[in-house]
Amino acid sequence: MNNVTVIGSINLDRSIRTPRMAKGGETIHINESFSAGGGKGANQAVAAKRLGADTHFIGAIGEDDAGKMMMELLTEEKIDLSGVEKLLRTSTGQAYVIVSDDGENSIYVLGGANMQLAPKHVESHADLIAASNWIVAQFETPLDSTIRAFEIAKQNGVATLLNPAPAVDEIPTELLKLTDLIIPNETETEILTGIKVTDESQMQKAAVKLHSLGVKAVLITLGSHGTFYSYQGETGIVPAFKVKAIDTTAAGDTFIGALSSKLKPDLSNLTDAIRFSNRASSITVQRLGAQPSIPYLNELD
Ligand code: ATP
Ligand code: RIB
Repeated sequence: MNNVTVIGSINLDRSIRTPRMAKGGETIHINESFSAGGGKGANQAVAAKRLGADTHFIGAIGEDDAGKMMMELLTEEKIDLSGVEKLLRTSTGQAYVIVSDDGENSIYVLGGANMQLAPKHVESHADLIAASNWIVAQFETPLDSTIRAFEIAKQNGVATLLNPAPAVDEIPTELLKLTDLIIPNETETEILTGIKVTDESQMQKAAVKLHSLGVKAVLITLGSHGTFYSYQGETGIVPAFKVKAIDTTAAGDTFIGALSSKLKPDLSNLTDAIRFSNRASSITVQRLGAQPSIPYLNELD
């Protein structure tokens, strides 16, 4: 069993399901609204835990009901929350998720406490990182804290996984040099490398660019087409499972969490772990919401 520490965001997601996206200035009736656990970091931790990893979390909540609710939900998951700080006079992260009947989604995020996660706080939980097989990070918490976490990981021989989401134009080379495995989706890959991933040869070009910046392994998630990989000169695509998607929210997060629970830190089972993670995400896309849609290990048979 892998020991995984996720550093990242905790959000309360407020979602609406609508027949279609409204145009600017238009008012339309929607099908339903609901609240559920979310945040890229928390979703990835939930996926890692449900899919078999011993999971620890480093993050921040505010002093409010949303923070209380998220702590209760993550405690029920049996994730170690000793690295979660409650910040005074700050609100917990919130995301407003709009999903249309054709499966399209838009997300608006209010970072709140997530944006105040400081390197000092990460340092005070260095022991969690040092005892892990994998440390996993995204871009919904400050960059300097992620860099600090990855420095501590590398000093202790811990493998690092970066999910560069939401997309940024440029990642500091300092962080890429500390990254063993990077997993962007197609849009994030294009923004990061300037290369549009229209076919496999373009994916290979994008991977070469990311390798040249210091990253050992590159995966690109391709939605319903599966996942591209590039590692030690070998490349390929592991196809997705054919399912009918109704809400892809947290598909990427499920993939990342699943992979961190299954992948050996020496990457010797890479394609098997990708297949496992594609399978997990294919279940997530058939359900509504972020954390409620993430499957448990016994559902993957
Ligand atoms: P999101 O932001 O919607 O959470 P993402 O853009 O980060 O997702 P994707 O590349 O869309 O990530 O999907 C991640 C993984 O989920 C894919 O590699 C694939 O395994 C699975 N997946 C996504 N969409 C589908 C689908 N329609 N059918 C089957 N599997 C899917
Ligand atoms: O990746 C999905 C997540 O992105 C949602 O749960 C929302 O909180 C946003 O952070």
